[in-house]
Amino acid sequence: MDNNFIVIIDDMNVKPSQEINLKAHTRSFPHGFLWGASTSHFQIEGNPFEINNRLSDWSIWANDPSHINDQSSADQACEFFDRYATDLDLLSSLNLNAFRLSLNWAAICPHPPIGNDLKINKEMIDYYRKVLQMSKDKDIKTFVTLFHFCLPQWLAQEGGWQNEKTAYEFTRFAKIIANELGDLVDFWQTINEPLSYSYEGFIKGVWPPGLKNGYPQGFIALRNMLIGHAAAYKAIHEISKAAQVSYAMIWRPFIPRRITNPLDLLVTYSRNKMFNHFFPMAVQSGYLQCPFPLNLFSELQSLAGPIPDLKDSADYLSINYYTREICEFSLNAPFLPLGIRSDLKTLPINALGWEICPSALLKLLTIDTRSYQKSTTGKDRPIYITENGYASRFSADLSIGDWSLKDEERCDFLHSHLVSIYEAIEAGINIKGYLHWSLLDNFEWAEGLQIRFGLVRIAYPTQERTFRDSARLYAKIAGSNNLIDYKK
Ligand code: FCB
Repeated sequence: MDNNFIVIIDDMNVKPSQEINLKAHTRSFPHGFLWGASTSHFQIEGNPFEINNRLSDWSIWANDPSHINDQSSADQACEFFDRYATDLDLLSSLNLNAFRLSLNWAAICPHPPIGNDLKINKEMIDYYRKVLQMSKDKDIKTFVTLFHFCLPQWLAQEGGWQNEKTAYEFTRFAKIIANELGDLVDFWQTINEPLSYSYEGFIKGVWPPGLKNGYPQGFIALRNMLIGHAAAYKAIHEISKAAQVSYAMIWRPFIPRRITNPLDLLVTYSRNKMFNHFFPMAVQSGYLQCPFPLNLFSELQSLAGPIPDLKDSADYLSINYYTREICEFSLNAPFLPLGIRSDLKTLPINALGWEICPSALLKLLTIDTRSYQKSTTGKDRPIYITENGYASRFSADLSIGDWSLKDEERCDFLHSHLVSIYEAIEAGINIKGYLHWSLLDNFEWAEGLQIRFGLVRIAYPTQERTFRDSARLYAKIAGSNNLIDYKK
């Protein structure tokens, strides 16, 4: 691994390097609002212990170039494992006071249990203690995710989330972490985006375990994730009563392609129920229910029912939002009861073809998530936006030239989405923090290294870090706690 640490911070006060005209304005965010950035371990760490031993399903999957669009790998990623101190300095110099990271389950628990005895890797615990302690010393609040898409390979071999044993092992992992690191964690997230995980891994087959159209398997995985989430929620609270625990949910508002077509309206309804409400509704009610028309399939009917300790197992809402989605009914084979994502785009798109739609964020904060903003006993659940960001694309080694430091589109994206959040707060919604995806360019799963979400550009061959204009804009907003006017 290259130990040549290069960081370019040409101005620690983060003044705009070019023509960004920032005018003071009075759109202040609530006192104590958290401004942060989000990451996940596999996408940034390049953890040599994991990579050299291929300890996780993702480290094996991503080692096969045919699985990754640009044939890159995550073996090096951002070398965060070695460079975390520098990267936390970057976070502070951007005036940020919150950091979301995930823990490398496969590296912490590298071997299956013998009998009921599970050995943990103390070196990895020490590493995360250092990351979390350093964050604390810098007054950075931490959001710690326990499962961000990567399984220890020994569990993947036994069926991963299709096997209820994974829910049991996940709970054991949560207990270990709560005991070893709990004093340094501010916010817990059990599972990241269960629906994305299940869809990409079991339906599309572009993530491990790589099943295509595996509907029953995808649902079994979701059920086991609900079981694991509920048990982990309980276990963390048994260790620390005051812990703030939730799960991270991606919200994708759906709209029909043809507003007057009843079949388009029907699939829009079902997609929304499935992809947005399935998991939150189960957590709210304690009961797994498959939405119409999936509840007509007998294999899925047998999965419905109550799940122990699930009801109300969320202390806050963790919302990830990137885009809305236009959907339509299709008769093409294979017949899909939830319809298809439409090719139609009516708004500007990012490099992944995702429409940029800040108004959908306002709607989901003020309407779609409303019924989950309180527990069934009436307890208020504050909202943290735990992912939101803009993708651009250019070569991993920058060989095709790099225009991306002047990232006007990301600046516009950031500002317009913060306007929506500001408006939602004004409308009375209790939003307490915003964490941008992502601090650094990183390994974007099946897309590889070319897709860039970072406020900070990574030049992978040298690992040089450089602030983009969006980082400078964000630093101004976070530093003033004010949605300053921004004009190009
Ligand atoms: C989310 C994932 C995150 C990242 C962003 C772009 O769905 O949680 O790891 O890949 O999308």
